Amino acid sequence: MAFVVPLPHGVVAGVHLPDAPEPVPELILTRLLEPERRYAEALRGYRQVQFAGGRLAVALALAELGSRRVPITSDEHGAPLFPHGVRGSISHKNDLAVALAARGELMLGLDLEDTDRERPGVAERVLTPGELDANLALPPERRWVDAVLRFSVKEAVYKAIHPALHRYIGFGEVEVWPQGDGTDRVVPRSPDLAAYTFEARHAWLGSRVLTTVKARLA
Ligand SMILES: CC(C)(COP(=O)(O)OP(=O)(O)OC[C@H]1O[C@@H](n2cnc3c(N)ncnc32)[C@H](O)[C@@H]1OP(=O)(O)O)[C@@H](O)C(=O)NCCC(=O)NCCS
Repeated sequence: MAFVVPLPHGVVAGVHLPDAPEPVPELILTRLLEPERRYAEALRGYRQVQFAGGRLAVALALAELGSRRVPITSDEHGAPLFPHGVRGSISHKNDLAVALAARGELMLGLDLEDTDRERPGVAERVLTPGELDANLALPPERRWVDAVLRFSVKEAVYKAIHPALHRYIGFGEVEVWPQGDGTDRVVPRSPDLAAYTFEARHAWLGSRVLTTVKARLA
């Protein structure tokens, strides 16, 4: 099962995955392009399922854009390499792989997170002191979703910008301020990141949050 939706930052395609570490059936592997297939065949368990699902989601997004399908290999840090004139990003979570693609050379990031199971310590690890204060000022039942949303935007920022910066980006290097209208203000807090402006948005897929980030040199 799959879906394709146009969103403000590009086309998002999703491919439902079996939530199990069984080998990807040969019939599915044959739908990958040659270098993708070779890479997938060397993977095992959930990683193989997720990689194959992500590449099939990219193929759907590229088709929706009317863009020729080409193999999406990865750079030495794991970032997907899109063809000239197209940019995109990939995320997967349990039974769903999603891909974002858009025409142009903007830096794009996509992330998908579950909000249904609370994990202790996440807010303290990923939020700045200012974000944490704002989070703790919320009613207790809203704190987890707020923390996951900010975390997801930070992951999408990382995916958008890491291919340009080529270095680890700490969670404290940006602050994320949800605006209540599906957009999120991203405030850079390190000199490297201050060179960029970010647009962030999120949408809900049931209890999952899907975040997209577009970055450009300021
Ligand atoms: C790399 C990272 C963002 C991946 O996120 P994740 O939630 O673990 O996994 P997801 O399923 O959402 O995303 C995986 C996809 O991210 C993409 N990805 C991996 N490394 C990447 C990188 N350096 N740059 C861009 N995209 C990358 C890949 O497409 C990968 O899927 P694939 O291997 O099938 O192609 C995360 O593991 C990480 O290292 N984060 C660093 C800390 C951080 O986020 N800081 C925030 C600073 S503001």
